[in-house]
Amino acid sequence: MKSYFELVISINPELEDVMSDFFFENFPTEGVVLAEESYKNLEMTSTTEGNLKVFLTEEPQGLDNLLKDYRRTLKDRGLTDDFMGSWDYTIDEKENQDWSKKWKEKWDVTHVTDKITVVPDWIEYTPKSKDEVIIRLEPGCAFGTGTHDTTQICMRAIELLGVKGKNVADIGMGSGILSICAKKFGAKYVYGCDNDETVIEVARENALKNNAKCEFELGTADKINKKFDFVLANILHNVLAEIMGDLKNITTDGGYIVLSGILDEKAPIVVDAINKNRLKIVNELHQNQWVGYIVEKI
Ligand SMILES: C[S@@+](CC[C@H](N)C(=O)[O-])C[C@H]1O[C@@H](n2cnc3c(N)ncnc32)[C@H](O)[C@@H]1O
Repeated sequence: MKSYFELVISINPELEDVMSDFFFENFPTEGVVLAEESYKNLEMTSTTEGNLKVFLTEEPQGLDNLLKDYRRTLKDRGLTDDFMGSWDYTIDEKENQDWSKKWKEKWDVTHVTDKITVVPDWIEYTPKSKDEVIIRLEPGCAFGTGTHDTTQICMRAIELLGVKGKNVADIGMGSGILSICAKKFGAKYVYGCDNDETVIEVARENALKNNAKCEFELGTADKINKKFDFVLANILHNVLAEIMGDLKNITTDGGYIVLSGILDEKAPIVVDAINKNRLKIVNELHQNQWVGYIVEKI
């Protein structure tokens, strides 16, 4: 019987995508569970957010040293020990023939709002009404399963403001989930870019699966020379602050930018960048310890 390894590491939830990338890049990683959440009547009843679960096909060799090096790299980029979390971990060897499917079992249908439902591609799902917007996903190694609060905040913003007939940009599109959502809400044109080349194909395949015509490419906001009515950016708070001017440049006058990926305690850093760029906060959406800002270019 083949075994697999289940590693659980304690991290700051804000580093979940960064740490997922670390495991995918360095070890034979089959999948990660960013946060296991349980819902009752659409209310979240529990979450393991803060514990990243990684499914590995082999025991990770040299993990301690690689973690130490990576922590040093992140520290050099200005992250503190307090911010990063302890990175204490446990590894369990599990006997299971079906190890390769194990992580998929953890990911279920997610009802983001009464209207938006994210369905893992391997699950059969019957829509509850004809108005329900269904997004089918196979995230591969890209961030964006729809279970994360920061992704959900953006989807709530799309539903709240509406994007029918609009030109939408999705900066850091990961799995493409927000682009697909925007297209399903009637956006005229959807463009997404990401600075990680490994996610581009994943996003393209997901768009195809959902019959959602989107344009995806490797890139960053500063390289774009088009303007959009609606710009989505679900990225770490410090990156948002850094690229705020670029986000503003690609937004039409009177257009909106949705900024997500912000832990409550980091909000002042983003608000400061919003103010410095003379953008106007028109709404803020909260979910657990995360906040998202909808800002208008005036
Ligand atoms: C938190 S994930 C969001 C994925 C997806 N949009 C969602 O909402 O679930 C952030 C994504 O932004 C990408 N990213 C990080 N910094 C970026 C930058 N400066 N420009 C473009 N993409 C970036 C990462 O590679 C990652 O795929």
